[in-house]
Amino acid sequence: MVKSNGKVAFVTGASSGVGFAVSVELAKRGYKVYAGARRIDAMKPLEEYGVIPISLDVSSIESIVAARELIESENDHLDILFNNAGVPCGAPAIEVQDEQFMKCYEVNLYGPIRVTREFSKLVIKAKGILAYTSSTAGLTPFPFGSIYSSSKAALSAYISTLAFEVKPLGVKVLDFVSGGIKTEIGEVEKLELISDSLYRIDGRDLLKESRKNFDTSRFMEVNVYAKKAVNDIESALNSSGSANYYRTFRGSMASMAWFISSVFPRSFLEAMLVQAFKMKDGFNAVKKKYTTKNK
Ligand SMILES: NC(=O)c1ccc[n+]([C@@H]2O[C@H](COP(=O)([O-])OP(=O)(O)OC[C@H]3O[C@@H](n4cnc5c(N)ncnc54)[C@H](OP(=O)(O)O)[C@@H]3O)[C@@H](O)[C@H]2O)c1
Repeated sequence: MVKSNGKVAFVTGASSGVGFAVSVELAKRGYKVYAGARRIDAMKPLEEYGVIPISLDVSSIESIVAARELIESENDHLDILFNNAGVPCGAPAIEVQDEQFMKCYEVNLYGPIRVTREFSKLVIKAKGILAYTSSTAGLTPFPFGSIYSSSKAALSAYISTLAFEVKPLGVKVLDFVSGGIKTEIGEVEKLELISDSLYRIDGRDLLKESRKNFDTSRFMEVNVYAKKAVNDIESALNSSGSANYYRTFRGSMASMAWFISSVFPRSFLEAMLVQAFKMKDGFNAVKKKYTTKNK
């Protein structure tokens, strides 16, 4: 039994990947941890660490309020709110359907905004920390990632302003601009092109192909990421300095993505993307089929 440190945390998107691992790591360090997600069964193993799983759909205000009421009934403060729930939203920018981008923004952007609003009073009472998993995808493009990238870029912009506004309230804000982490989020089978997509070509599906081609073998192990993230949270919480906004690059290639997006010309970035996702052949096929036809 781990000795309690008297601090309370709530982690969203905790049924797998980052949220699951961060919940375990926090519990191991003595936090009372509430873990939220839709798949309640997948969070059952967290109980072994003393984590309390609760049903949460961040795209539903009723669900968020119910989670808040439950946590509030058992605690008068919240030291850590980790807004982590997210979905991958892969689709071509010119073909993305309304329900696809609405779902993406509901979970990746409006969800954390709503959760922050609903839990802010509890976090202010603790002079606690608001943490988020944004993404390097918000800094650099990747093929068929326009909606995911834009949801995460908007989230980072929200976080940056939020930090400024909550500074007088004694709340700290941490934006984990995350690179590659080994989790379920990149599972290719979940991705679907529309039936008459321009990127279905000669029996090929360029969306699935690009994801399969991308080498994820050097992505960071999720437990390693979780340990680093909780270290970052604790050092921010314990810091007596005046800073309240921490923009932290975690996960594989995270700092590199920032460097490339800030320093290198667009042509270099595009060449890298074509290479990394092995898009040359597929894009040539698209070019040949659609530009020759129109001549
Ligand atoms: N893995 C990476 O390389 C990477 C890189 C940069 C950023 N990130 C970000 O890291 C965060 C965690 O992702 P992950 O990599 O750990 O992926 P993951 O294993 O797929 O986890 C995503 C989590 O979000 C939850 N979720 C999805 N929709 C939800 C909803 N409507 N309400 C509540 N929870 C919801 C899922 O639970 P349920 O389905 O049970 O609800 C799941 O627990 C995401 O925000 C992701 O964008 C990941």
